[in-house]
Amino acid sequence: MQYSRYFAIARNHRRLLVIGLCAGLVAGIASGFGVPFFVQRVFKNIFEDVETTYSLGYLIFVSSLLPGVFLVRGIAGYINQYFLQWTVQNVLLEVRQKLFEKLQILPIAYFERRQSGDLMAKLVGDTLQVQHAILLVARDAFVQPFTFLAGLGYLVYLAFEQKQMGFLIAMVVVAPLMVAPVSYVGRKLRRRSRSLQNTLGELTDVMAENLRGVVEVRSFNLQERERTRFTEKLKDYNRFAMKMAKYYHMTQPFMELLAVCMVSIAFIYSYQKGIGFSSFAAMGAALFFTVDAIKRVIKMLNGLQKTSGSFSRIETVLAEEETVRDVEEPTDLLNPVGNLQFENVHFSYHDSAESPDLHIDQLEIPHGTICALVGPSGAGKSTFAKLIPRFYDPQSGHIRFDGTDIRTLRKQDLRSCIAFVPQAPVLFNGTVRDNIHLARPSATADEVVDAARQAHAEEFILSLPNGYDSVVGENAVRLSGGQRQRLALARAFLKNAPVLILDEATSALDAESEIKIQDALKKLAKNRTILIIAHRFATISLADTVLLFEKGKIRCRGDFDTVMKDDLFRRLYEIQLGDPAQQASR
Ligand SMILES: Nc1ncnc2c1ncn2[C@@H]1O[C@H](COP(=O)(O)OP(=O)(O)OP(=O)(O)O)[C@@H](O)[C@H]1O
Ligand SMILES: [Mg+2]
Repeated sequence: MQYSRYFAIARNHRRLLVIGLCAGLVAGIASGFGVPFFVQRVFKNIFEDVETTYSLGYLIFVSSLLPGVFLVRGIAGYINQYFLQWTVQNVLLEVRQKLFEKLQILPIAYFERRQSGDLMAKLVGDTLQVQHAILLVARDAFVQPFTFLAGLGYLVYLAFEQKQMGFLIAMVVVAPLMVAPVSYVGRKLRRRSRSLQNTLGELTDVMAENLRGVVEVRSFNLQERERTRFTEKLKDYNRFAMKMAKYYHMTQPFMELLAVCMVSIAFIYSYQKGIGFSSFAAMGAALFFTVDAIKRVIKMLNGLQKTSGSFSRIETVLAEEETVRDVEEPTDLLNPVGNLQFENVHFSYHDSAESPDLHIDQLEIPHGTICALVGPSGAGKSTFAKLIPRFYDPQSGHIRFDGTDIRTLRKQDLRSCIAFVPQAPVLFNGTVRDNIHLARPSATADEVVDAARQAHAEEFILSLPNGYDSVVGENAVRLSGGQRQRLALARAFLKNAPVLILDEATSALDAESEIKIQDALKKLAKNRTILIIAHRFATISLADTVLLFEKGKIRCRGDFDTVMKDDLFRRLYEIQLGDPAQQASR
């Protein structure tokens, strides 16, 4: 487990930490030494010194000693808690930020290997666990050791004063007894903590999936299946939580029993050695604070063990390697026009270059052209498109952008030159305008409207209750599939990038809208490179070049008439060929 990261961040808040620590020192001494010391002094005067008659003023002075020491203890304790919590909150803020930042830069493949629910659980659940743990540390880690040492110091002082060394020896023998059960419980807790958090991740996965599949759950009547799945995970979670509880709550009663035993021994010892009431009371107070300090430290250590699973789960994300990295000294991209070249590119999703999912020998897609990618489902069209903005890096070969290998460019520069509309675009919660505008925040209101017009989206936007200022809702569930696609297109058009990649971006549109968008694309193609993955003839026929994909390779390339000669192409489009309406739209 790595706590060094947390200490390193805490160091940035040194000043607050030092104030908190000093206050902790004062509070610890006031508790462990001050309280028993004054107890002895007051009790001696009041109960044992029966010969002397004290004046009322002196009595008031003596009896205010104890409230005084508690006042110091209270104020110092408060300052200690306040400043340490301040530090802790700041440490957590940074950890959460770091975690979120990491999720922004990790490669897409990372997210495909993991469930989003589990990542959410890490981001929310685990950081909350860590927060509990660090708060516990802040509360007890500094005050309690000081209290313990001060209390012990007082006991030593008392032993010397009363000349009772046997008492000290007894202390030294009993103390290690207290540590043994703690380390046992700690080990048990550590092992279970990770399992507990992993089950919480699985639970969140089930929940997230259920929410994503609201429609499927209802249409396939999957409620019972979902309930069972959820209940199973819930029971798992409860089982692990109870396993932890079994051990976690074991230490407290054990420690208390031990403490009471010690007091009983102290009774016998005091009686036999004739120790006075004031010293006994002081010893009791000192013992209380030392034992209480140990108890709290133990509770804190066990609390840390309990959340060690969360610490390591967060650590796994933070330590995750970023595989699609920028080079040390990236090349600047000056006046990008969007010439694309592929050279012996092999790519596999499974990190094995032997049976590549995609294999492109030589290919050039020149600036100013429209290139259509066609082929059967699973042939590798989307994969091919995703290599261009470096969503994945090929295992071997080169992809060049305006003659420069894209690996030597800054990812940010490269991506700002590519407008990519994926197969299932996501809209963010916000207004229609925001959703388009985010592609190029510097764009003017007119440019936003213009992009919407090109994407043939203006008509439906204006029919919404608040036009461009209508809120689309989470993932635009209140819009139709085609409307969502048009907003995604408008966003890509607004970006005004040299390369435009549309992965079945018009598949949900009616023929009329699609024709309008094709007109826009033809105009746009004059000064950029457009890649369209599409199944409809109308769209394909727009292209200067057609690439026919089959099993990860380009089976045939050329203009429309050339690929028409290919059997596979003809077979794929037979139905459309036979459809006079489709032919008419060509
Ligand atoms: N993230 C992924 N991880 C592993 N394999 C993948 C991943 N995405 C796609 N594949 C596999 O790679 C192959 C090519 O998929 P790709 O999505 O490129 O096909 P496509 O030509 O776009 O198909 P479609 O027309 O259905 O969209 C498929 O066999 C698919 O199973
Ligand atoms: Mg695809």
